[in-house]
Amino acid sequence: MPDLVIEAKGLRKVYGTGATETVALDSVTFEVQRGEFVVLLGASGSGKTTLMNQIGALEGPTSGSLKVNGVELGGMDDKERTEYRRSALGFVFQLYNLVPTLTAHENVALIAEITGEHADERADRVLVAVGLGDRANHFPSQLSGGQQQRVAVARGLVKNPPLLLCDEPTGALSVEQGVVILDLLHEATSDGERTVFLVTHNPRIAEMADRVLSLTDGKIVGDRVNADPKTPAQIFG
Ligand SMILES: Nc1ncnc2c1ncn2[C@@H]1O[C@H](COP(=O)(O)OP(=O)(O)OP(=O)(O)O)[C@@H](O)[C@H]1O
Ligand SMILES: [Mg+2]
Repeated sequence: MPDLVIEAKGLRKVYGTGATETVALDSVTFEVQRGEFVVLLGASGSGKTTLMNQIGALEGPTSGSLKVNGVELGGMDDKERTEYRRSALGFVFQLYNLVPTLTAHENVALIAEITGEHADERADRVLVAVGLGDRANHFPSQLSGGQQQRVAVARGLVKNPPLLLCDEPTGALSVEQGVVILDLLHEATSDGERTVFLVTHNPRIAEMADRVLSLTDGKIVGDRVNADPKTPAQIFG
């Protein structure tokens, strides 16, 4: 695996045309190194989810270049894109995207199965870690918003992917629950091999990052390395 995980150059994304045209990303250029815990900070509508969807190859850019692990995402065919998402990525979606007909356990186990043995045991373990050991057999509709969000996080964590993309993973949680989740996400980068890219509008969460990217109106207006990242408990304790 190359040391440079993400390399964006002049990335631009325009939605719509004419009166409804929205420039969601504009001249976005940045790099992320392997093992970094990166926070992308920006207000509502600044383009955070749009950028996340680009890195996840869920949408293509209008122009510009985006490489992950040295490979240009725009140059992939459907099969390569599917394989990229399967093997290189984990997702925690802003709107959870849980499968409504599957229980919490089944939602997590489904992802665990992609990456190896003992999917049921691994799913159980991660659900306990996010505090949902007693809700494993509930369907999404039987869970609170914060519980659904923790299932979404469990799904991202159970895959243990090289690059974990998390879109507002603690937005629906209390401070205490949020600290538990942020600790788990941070731990995912502790071996220096795995990278977490976390999107938030909460500047306090950025204090735990190795690198903080700031997005305003689709533009990167800040890119700084945090010399002394804090633990979630230090920030919110
Ligand atoms: N599919 C789409 N079609 C048209 N416009 C879009 C689409 N997706 C996003 N936009 C627009 O692009 C801009 C950036 O949206 P985006 O969802 O990336 O913001 P965000 O930073 O994730 O906001 P939030 O914090 O509210 O989730 C917004 O102005 C939004 O209205
Ligand atoms: Mg968003």
